[in-house]
Amino acid sequence: MPRPHVLVARAVFPEVVERLRAHFEVEDNPGDIIYSAAELSARLQGKQGAFTTGSERIDAALLDANAQLRAVCNMAVGYNNFDVDACTARGVLCTNTPDVLTETTADFGFALMMATARRISESEHYLRRGEWTRWAYDMFTGRDVHAATLGILGMGRIVQPIARRAALGIGMRVIYHNRSRLAAEQEAPIGARYVDKATLLAQADHLVLVLPYSAASHHAIGAAELAQMKPTATLTNIARGGIVDDAALAQALRERRIAAAGLDVFEGEPQLNPALLDLPSVVLTPHIASASVATRRAMANLAADNLIAALTGGAPPTPINPQVLASR
Ligand code: GLV
Repeated sequence: MPRPHVLVARAVFPEVVERLRAHFEVEDNPGDIIYSAAELSARLQGKQGAFTTGSERIDAALLDANAQLRAVCNMAVGYNNFDVDACTARGVLCTNTPDVLTETTADFGFALMMATARRISESEHYLRRGEWTRWAYDMFTGRDVHAATLGILGMGRIVQPIARRAALGIGMRVIYHNRSRLAAEQEAPIGARYVDKATLLAQADHLVLVLPYSAASHHAIGAAELAQMKPTATLTNIARGGIVDDAALAQALRERRIAAAGLDVFEGEPQLNPALLDLPSVVLTPHIASASVATRRAMANLAADNLIAALTGGAPPTPINPQVLASR
C-alpha cells in the first residue's frame, strides 16, 4: 500500500515531524515560511493530510482544488481557520487540540489579567527608560485583584480553571455569562454565578474573554459593551482577535472609559491596530497563552496523533466533525 502524503504547514518540533515520517511521506516547512493561500493549495496537491496551525485557512476553494485531502489537523484548540461545513460536506476530517492547553492558557490569562490590573508592563518600561528616581505615593497605583469581581465571558473548558484560580486562589467573586449555563455541580465548587451579559459588563472589576470566534461572537465587545463597563475595570482578551472591536477599545482606553486592557490576540494579527501601541494602559503579548514548552509539545503530539489515526484507519482522539468518520 502506498504511504499517504502529508504537508506539515509550519515549522514544528523536529521529533514530531519524525513521528509523522514513520507513517507518511512528509513535506515539512523547517524554514517556517508563511504560505499564501495559493501556495498552500499548491503544496497540498497530492497530499491526503495536513498538519496546520491557526494560521492556515482551509476553505471550500482550497478543498475543491485538493479533492484527495482527507484530514486537516490543527495544532490549536481554536479552529476558526477551518470552514468546517465545507470540510464535512467533502468528507474531510477536521481535528483540534483541546484539553492539553487548558491549564496553561488559564495560567496565562490569569497572569495577563494581573499584569494589566497592576500595571506591570507600563511600570517596567518606565524603569527601563531610567525614569525611576524616587518613591511616590501614587506611583503606578493599579487595581486590586484579590476580593474583586472577576467576570468571564464565554464558556467551555477554560472557564472553570480560571474561575478556580480566582475564587479558590485569591478569593475573587466570580460571575460569568455564556449562551449556556454550567451545571449546578460545576458552579458550586468555584462559587461562580451565572448572570446576563449586561450584569456581567456592569459588575466585573476584571473582565476576561474566553469565547471562541465565530460570526456570532464578532465584536462581542464593542463600543456599546465598553460603555457598560466600570471606568475602573480591566479587560483581558485571551480568546481570539475580532471578538473585541480593537478600534473601539483603543478609544475607550484613550477616553479612560475603562482603566486598562491585557491583549494576547488582535484583529488582523500579527498586525495590530496602531492606536493600541500608543496606549500605556495596555499590556500586549503576541498570542502566546498556550506557549509553555510542555504544552506546545503536547499540542503538536496531539495534532500528530490525530493525523496518524485519521489516515491509518485509527480513531482520531479529538475530531471536530466526527460524522465524517462514521460515513467512511
Ligand atoms: C490558540 O489560540 C489556540 O487556539 O490553540
